[in-house]
Amino acid sequence: MFVWIDRLLILALVLVVAVLTMTSLPALGGQTLGGQMLLAHMMASGVLVMGLPVFALFFLRYFAAKRPASGFQNLGYLATVATGLVTIVTVFLCMLPIPSTHQMHSLMSLHAWAGFAMIPAIVVLLIGARATRSASHPHS
Ligand code: HEM
Repeated sequence: MFVWIDRLLILALVLVVAVLTMTSLPALGGQTLGGQMLLAHMMASGVLVMGLPVFALFFLRYFAAKRPASGFQNLGYLATVATGLVTIVTVFLCMLPIPSTHQMHSLMSLHAWAGFAMIPAIVVLLIGARATRSASHPHS
């Protein structure tokens, strides 16, 4: 049962980060996000903001498990949560009346780097999850 929840959470994470990445690609070409792309980016961002804490709390149990997860899974988990948090916090900070315009530009640049860094983090998580599964089912 828990294994299926793990899989669903990872699938949801992969899908939402894929949408966020695809909708932010125009920024790589020097364009600002706008129109339908920005709308889709903002809709998917809400899913990540709500889903990342669920994922983080649910996978935390592996650190106390009798049969621990692979090192890759733990590394991928920590990297995914850390990069996801930076991605979210940078946008949150821009909404406060504290940063200057220049600081907002820096925060958005950090946002983009942290967001794109979620991709390798999730790849490590996927490799680790597979290694954990192979270790617990050596003959499958
Ligand atoms: C994998 C995750 C994500 C990636 C790769 C990503 C990437 C990007 C990129 C490249 C930009 C353009 C930055 C620029 O113009 O310099 C951007 C803008 C933005 N992102 Fe994300 N993002 C992600 C997740 C999120 C999340 C979770 C939120 C909300 C909490 C969010 C909210 C925004 C906002 C508000 C903008 C500014 C749009 C504008 O210029 O008006 N993004 N994102």
